[in-house]
Amino acid sequence: MSQFTGNHVLSVNQFDRDAIEKIFHVAHSMEPYARRQKRTTVLDGAILGNLFFEPSTRTRVSFGTAFNLLGGEVRETTGMSSSALAKGESLFDTARVLSGYSDIIAMRHPQAGSVAEFSEGSRVPVLNGGDGANEHPTQALLDLFTIKRELEYNGKQIDGLHIAMIGDLRYGRTVHSLSKLLCLYKNIHFTLISPKELAMPDNVISAIENAGHKLTVTNQIEGVVNADICYQTRIQEERFTSQAEANKYRGRFRLNQSIYTRHFQSKTVIMHPLPRDSRMEANELDNDLNSNPNLAIFRQADNGVLVRMALFALTLGVDDLVSKYEREVVWYTNKSQSL
Ligand code: CP
Repeated sequence: MSQFTGNHVLSVNQFDRDAIEKIFHVAHSMEPYARRQKRTTVLDGAILGNLFFEPSTRTRVSFGTAFNLLGGEVRETTGMSSSALAKGESLFDTARVLSGYSDIIAMRHPQAGSVAEFSEGSRVPVLNGGDGANEHPTQALLDLFTIKRELEYNGKQIDGLHIAMIGDLRYGRTVHSLSKLLCLYKNIHFTLISPKELAMPDNVISAIENAGHKLTVTNQIEGVVNADICYQTRIQEERFTSQAEANKYRGRFRLNQSIYTRHFQSKTVIMHPLPRDSRMEANELDNDLNSNPNLAIFRQADNGVLVRMALFALTLGVDDLVSKYEREVVWYTNKSQSL
């Protein structure tokens, strides 16, 4: 039984470098299944409760897809108003009940700390799919997995990385979790670019400083030279008290090909957890970057399936059995022959 078996995934704080390497090793081995070239039924009979009390496209669907690709079934609840939470039921009671219907639960909720609270009532492992402005640990793992792959392609490694994080660093939970994970590595240079009202929270800054990393804090995109990774974020309008308040910051840090060419190296990898706000007033990551080979945002989203498959396999203790229950995929074989 591994350190993962039966445990919740609530925060990146629970991982060390060995654990991350293990997750990445298993994630890598999931590639043929994620590409639908092979099928495994290792989770045949298992049920994922996929509970999303806040909007999501990637996290919700990739959790479900990952579980299906391992042979399991998915039951979903979306939206607060269609659940009994709207009638005053506690997170504890909801967890007690729904964990009787599932073998594992993935959950997103708008309140910080809510997924941890839910996990206390759960009889099965719970994976945090984002709790308010707090954490998004599975996103951070897939971001780091992407950074590792993209850097390796450029002949580099995570140790010694220079990352520029841009935009809403206050409410953007993905940058909180990713920063904490990066603190486990050596000689990281963090350049944090945001309006001062949307600066990175103090606890994340302290984690970076206490780990001895280089930190540059600025409200200007100009002058970011030598960044290996440019991690752009969305203004998290759902966390502001009003649209007018969010509008003050929307569009402050646009990135397009011309700005990229002016301020970044020719190999700087462009990342974004998505969704990117493509409305004219924001346009934080312009479509004119779509043909830039360094735009990794869709590779990043694809990697979410690999990492979430790995987390399911490890948490349910079947990571060594995946290939034992492997079989050919009729559709892929037929598709290959007809192309
Ligand atoms: N990156 C991310 O969490 O996307 P969704 O909100 O679509 O799940």
